[in-house]
Amino acid sequence: MMDWKIVAGVGCASLAAAGAGYLVYRLGQKSARSDQRFPGIDKTYATDDPINLYIIDHTTINPVLMKLHKLSTSHSKGLMTTAIEQDTFLTLLTKSVNAKKVIDIGMFFGCSAMALALGLPDGGKVVGLEINSEYIENGKPFFAEAGISDKIDIRIKDAEEGLSEMIKDGESGTYDIAFLDAFKQRYPFYLEPVHTLLRPGGLFVIDNALFHGRVIDPQVDDDSTRGVRRLNNMLKNDRRFEIVLLKVADGILIARKL
Ligand SMILES: C[S@@+](CC[C@H](N)C(=O)[O-])C[C@H]1O[C@@H](n2cnc3c(N)ncnc32)[C@H](O)[C@@H]1O
Repeated sequence: MMDWKIVAGVGCASLAAAGAGYLVYRLGQKSARSDQRFPGIDKTYATDDPINLYIIDHTTINPVLMKLHKLSTSHSKGLMTTAIEQDTFLTLLTKSVNAKKVIDIGMFFGCSAMALALGLPDGGKVVGLEINSEYIENGKPFFAEAGISDKIDIRIKDAEEGLSEMIKDGESGTYDIAFLDAFKQRYPFYLEPVHTLLRPGGLFVIDNALFHGRVIDPQVDDDSTRGVRRLNNMLKNDRRFEIVLLKVADGILIARKL
């Protein structure tokens, strides 16, 4: 029988090797927003926690999405990028509910949109709402490389306006998932239009639901934190949904429309 110390040593060495590439691009990206009072609430690329390497090493990551993720996190506003294991989670969630129609609210370089699209069958569609066309231009070559360009319908406009148009176009009750990751101040205002657009059983998936721990800090009362807190509380008291708040990345709240 092998000595457990040798086994552990070999395991750690292979983990270190597997994680090395990831670390190389992640180093120097430490989150300015991460709050040390709330350890464990942050994105995997934003902390030095070795458990992050283990997470990445045990997650299926699409290689084209990984390339886009590296580009996105290297931007001066790269800390807005979703965590890579969170993207894989979105792909699996999309596949698990057999989603065909999905909304991505706040695209940045397009990691979450690509992750959602990777989970869709032929003919499936992600409607992506983004106010800044410069950001999402960066994602387009990667969508093409992954063969999913035809699944991502990019709409350059304010997301609230985009959702209202979708309702006016008669799309109420037809979407399987809506992923929210736009600016936090307006989070509460997405609840009604998203509820209208989701089908019964559809999922409202909300990023940054813990907002670096600020949601429970009584001394923090900025507009963004207030926005996240308010939407969390609205959903907690909303009988039209059942909800779970996961301590994954910066917090993911999943609300299932009843
Ligand atoms: C946190 S980033 C999104 C990250 C992205 N989901 C990803 O996978 O990396 C937020 C994005 O939302 C966009 N945004 C913020 N408010 C918006 C609004 N009202 N309408 C449309 N886009 C908005 C910003 O321009 C920014 O690109």
